[in-house]
Amino acid sequence: MKIKFTYLIIFLGALLLQACNRTQTKLQTDSEWQSKIDSLLELMTIDEKIGQLNLLTSGWDVTGPNMSENYQQLIKEGKVGGIFNAFTVKYISELQRLAVEETRLGIPLLFGYDVIHGHRTIFPIPLAQSCSWDLALIEQSEQVAAREASAEGINWTFAPMVDISRDPRWGRVSEGAGEDTWLGSQIGAVRVRGFQGTDLSANNTLISCVKHFAAYGAPQAGRDYHTVDMSERSLREWYLPPYKAAIDAGAVSVMTSFNEINGVPATSNHWLYTDLLRGEWGFEGFTVTDYSSIYELIPHGVAADSAMAGELALKAGIDMDMQATVYQNHLKQSVEKGTVTMQKIDAAVSRIIKAKYRLGLFDDPYKYCNLEREKTEILTPESQALARDFVSKSCVLLKNDRQTLPIPKTVKKIALIGPLGNSKVDMLGNWSAAGRAEDCVTLYEGLQEKSLSYHFSLSYEKGCDVLDASTAGFAKAIQAAKNADYIVLALGEHGNMSGEAASRTDIGLPEVQQKLADAIIALKKPVVVVLFNGRPLTLNELDATAPAILEAWFGGTQAGNGIADLLFADAIPSGKLTMTFPHSVGQIPIHYNMKNTGRPVTPDNPDYKYKSRYIDSPNEALYPFGYGLSYTTFEYKDLMLNAKNISAADTLQITVEVSNTGNFDAHEVVQLYIRDVVGSVTRPVKELKGFEKVYIPKNESVKVNFKISANDLRFYNLKMDYTFEPGFFKVFVGPNSAEGLSESFELR
Ligand code: BGC
Repeated sequence: MKIKFTYLIIFLGALLLQACNRTQTKLQTDSEWQSKIDSLLELMTIDEKIGQLNLLTSGWDVTGPNMSENYQQLIKEGKVGGIFNAFTVKYISELQRLAVEETRLGIPLLFGYDVIHGHRTIFPIPLAQSCSWDLALIEQSEQVAAREASAEGINWTFAPMVDISRDPRWGRVSEGAGEDTWLGSQIGAVRVRGFQGTDLSANNTLISCVKHFAAYGAPQAGRDYHTVDMSERSLREWYLPPYKAAIDAGAVSVMTSFNEINGVPATSNHWLYTDLLRGEWGFEGFTVTDYSSIYELIPHGVAADSAMAGELALKAGIDMDMQATVYQNHLKQSVEKGTVTMQKIDAAVSRIIKAKYRLGLFDDPYKYCNLEREKTEILTPESQALARDFVSKSCVLLKNDRQTLPIPKTVKKIALIGPLGNSKVDMLGNWSAAGRAEDCVTLYEGLQEKSLSYHFSLSYEKGCDVLDASTAGFAKAIQAAKNADYIVLALGEHGNMSGEAASRTDIGLPEVQQKLADAIIALKKPVVVVLFNGRPLTLNELDATAPAILEAWFGGTQAGNGIADLLFADAIPSGKLTMTFPHSVGQIPIHYNMKNTGRPVTPDNPDYKYKSRYIDSPNEALYPFGYGLSYTTFEYKDLMLNAKNISAADTLQITVEVSNTGNFDAHEVVQLYIRDVVGSVTRPVKELKGFEKVYIPKNESVKVNFKISANDLRFYNLKMDYTFEPGFFKVFVGPNSAEGLSESFELR
């Protein structure tokens, strides 16, 4: 009798679930959502609820301890809410079947993955993408990423990563949008829109997860996972806005960061996750830990054991436990002991269930498992064309003496030299999702394709390895260079020398490569250095001797083609740095929007000792934020403001004329900076407030317009109110953060 009664309940529950599901598309208001979720919660046991909070890796890509090799069994037991690192229709269908057909309530799984710069079509690494300053292109690339990933069963991406960083020693700068808060916020928002589209229940969009909340990009000494300690002013002003922008753009989930912030790890930080994120910002989605970060509360020293770690995290507002299995193993006992409440668990479950409803998974748990889509929507010619264009727009021309670039189309013999000239796997960069090395075009292959059109012979010599000190290959490389009339040197880092757990204390070119470069450059032939790397490097020596340097980052599947397009002027460089390149590690942290200090070095006291300066280095960057050359030249003139003073209700119109004075039609990224001259708290020497990427045919000029209103002049005042203050402001418009025209106005 008891058994029959249980079956009846389950049967009624299942009917109710189906009825709920059929109304999915019509649901609109919060209360409608809530009553649907509540009906499901009522059917769930505490174990099933805690199961929804459990996110496990399938074991394919692992970046930390794997606590649950029996994940398939756990799915069947209803103890898993989501799986990550699984893809392909076959595999996902199988896992989803376990959840939907073999568990009591059949609640579908979320499938997460680090779709960071493409899924199968790999686009340039995110730092490179940001150097395109092309928001539309970034959004389009995320649409492609979402389409490809969702065609292989995935419905949740662990992106965008919007951690601002001012420290290139930190390997994860490769995953972000550089050092600037304003630009990083714009980019974070378009990435969310690209992934999520306008319809989350469509089968070709993903829910996004903004990470790593918060301030993960500011670890002490640039060492990954290290302590973050900063004022609330800096946190709010420089680090938090990109997360907020991504959330305002609709990001459905937020991931914690591994670091502590001012003494409290992010994963147990109630202020961060409850007061700020949900309270102040009104975030309604769900939160997830970064990997085993609940467990890491123990080594951080805020939890004595796993049970306490779980309690701290849940109370702080963390809904889903990635991979630590702490919630799975301890939350039930914590409820029984009374150290956490059932309400907290219900709230966390509700938020995760809501995301599953929003995706339409209850309507059709296999909606992302379509074999036809998997065949036809991946690595399409269109996505390859987009990726190729993106490569050429992401590269930054750092130096080009005597028009060494573009390579003259009359060239007869090219020697490609260097360890990164023909390495497919390195083109992927880090976090390359399901990207395959064999799908990547290397620079050697890109140049081979060009040799068909421009009829030159191409030789390739590796010369040396990326890191190994052996110079045994130098002789052959030098001989190849001697035989050629143009040399392309492909140097830099391995793809895995940046990214997670890849901090470096020396960010120079590995010594053996510098020696190779010296030997080749000494031949005094036309040489371009093409750099592959995932962070700013210190390039003093190369800058002093190489005739031309092209920063190519890691371009992904179409890397070699996109770079070759630039080398032959089939595309014109337009990328501009979004992260400062220092002269030396000793200058770090270095960023364009520094404070002036009370003892700034100024043109009238360049050599005076008692100024804020080094005795062995300039303060300035080797290549500043916003910097990047073209094959053409641009002239800026007639910077004009429509008023000398504005009120808080006015909009200031700023106009500048930019002329293309060189020989190529090209794009220019025109940048607008401001400086608040006197404030109740000190303000940076410059702050980016706008940019326009304009196309200017040679010998033509365009007028570029910007608008500034009081809203753009806000900052945190003494009382930590986000406001503007009357006073004088400088306006700078130019090709980078160090050059340009300037004017001023007053806010009254
Ligand atoms: C990384 C995250 C990533 C997660 C899942 C962690 O090690 O810090 O950025 O999303 O692994 O792969």
